[in-house]
Amino acid sequence: MADPAAIRVDVITIFPGLFEPFVGEAMLGIARDKGLARIAVHDLRDWTRDRHRTVDDAPYGGGPGMVMKPEPLVEAIEQIAGPKGPERRARVVLLAPQGRRLDQTHLEELAREEHLVLVCGRYEGVDQRVVDLAVDEEVSIGDYVLSGGEVPVMVLLEGVVRLLPGVLGNPESVESESFAERLLEGPQYTRPPEYRGLEVPEVLRSGHHAEVARWRRQRAVERTEERRPDLRDGARGDEER
Ligand code: ADE
Repeated sequence: MADPAAIRVDVITIFPGLFEPFVGEAMLGIARDKGLARIAVHDLRDWTRDRHRTVDDAPYGGGPGMVMKPEPLVEAIEQIAGPKGPERRARVVLLAPQGRRLDQTHLEELAREEHLVLVCGRYEGVDQRVVDLAVDEEVSIGDYVLSGGEVPVMVLLEGVVRLLPGVLGNPESVESESFAERLLEGPQYTRPPEYRGLEVPEVLRSGHHAEVARWRRQRAVERTEERRPDLRDGARGDEER
């Protein structure tokens, strides 16, 4: 039985088959089975009206590639999310490289929504009127270009669903995550204590919880300074705001 408080997620794509294994297995499958997330995947071509089920067309002004047509996308979004405006309860997100870059804070915000509609862009882009008429925000998963929004939607979904209360067995594993405080995770070890001459640091085997916590924090800070100083700068920027 689905929990009435479960988040509802609708995905609109021209490749619904890509999502079947993804939403049915591992963490997303568990969330679905526990009734914590209701995920539905829709084939955009179901909103086309021509014999060829056309979803794209040549760009005005010329140039390479194809642009996704406005009619099927706008009609699909409106049917699933309702018309854009203050009455709309759903948040409609288009995954596109020109969107706002996704980060952990943004995922936390999305995980608090009751209904997300995730739209996969394809080809060279999406007709701007789709964004103007039906989309609430555009999100990018990073400064690189993929050929479509399907993998980005999966990234966003996985990032959101693992934050939902009850999905992960141990809520501490979400809370203690270093990204929550803008630190990279330090090194982790499991058994055996020595492998090919490399030993697990003594402190982790000592059983001194306070020492372990201090050691972990030091390694996390060092690693962040070395690899991602921008995360620390960002943290300071936030405090000033
Ligand atoms: N579609 C293509 N590239 C993308 C990206 N980096 N983020 C989101 N959607 C995309």
